[in-house]
Amino acid sequence: MVTAYDANSARLIAETVVDCVLVGDSVMMVVHGEDNTRGATPELMAKHTKEVARGGSGKFIIADMPYQSVQQGTPFAFECAQFLIEAGADAVKVEGVRGHEDAIKHLVKSGIPVMGHLGLLPQSVQSPDDYKVQAKTPADAQALREDVATLERCGVFALVLECIPAKLAAEVSAATKVPTIGIGAGAGCDGQVLVWHDLLGLNPDFKARFVRHFAQEGEDPIKGLDAYAAAVHSGDYPQPKESF
Ligand code: KIV
Repeated sequence: MVTAYDANSARLIAETVVDCVLVGDSVMMVVHGEDNTRGATPELMAKHTKEVARGGSGKFIIADMPYQSVQQGTPFAFECAQFLIEAGADAVKVEGVRGHEDAIKHLVKSGIPVMGHLGLLPQSVQSPDDYKVQAKTPADAQALREDVATLERCGVFALVLECIPAKLAAEVSAATKVPTIGIGAGAGCDGQVLVWHDLLGLNPDFKARFVRHFAQEGEDPIKGLDAYAAAVHSGDYPQPKESF
């Protein structure tokens, strides 16, 4: 899975073997230049989702539910998810689970596929220091195991695991029936996701441990995206040095 935010990126993704596209609220940081993802609104996420859908990638499109959309209760969450589906998303992604299990269950029962997201939750980040590996203590690791089980009961169809120890990610991936998609969570996940700008090396100033540049500036993005997909499929990416 790779993020995309516009029609042109989606057109390029159509030419690759990447499986699915995430219209992430990371758009706020990598496109709009904000410090965090919390400025994303339903309208803005729908606009980017529409652009990606218009690009005709032919891939499964997941759109991020923006900050505070599930926290405002089930009716608002449903309205927001429906808005993103009408904009062209095939599914929505929700960060976290505690406190909004009912909203997630309602979306799933209403026929809206929901992807979960655990570990580092960018919408909850308050300062740059919060971008760090999660679930490192035994208590936090146990809380994550419980959250995975809760999301499985809620009926999510897949689950992003962001910035957690590779050993824990492999353990929960083996224990749950829900396919896991890692970012900074090691090779034991069922799939991987990277942000478009990171994997194509478009922001050389951002070099997190888990980021590998599959294309250098000026190189063909289609080749870079296919190299990324091939490296994930073969197990070459991520390596232990790209994990925690
Ligand atoms: O918004 C986003 O790009 C994401 C990924 C980091 C998983 O949620």
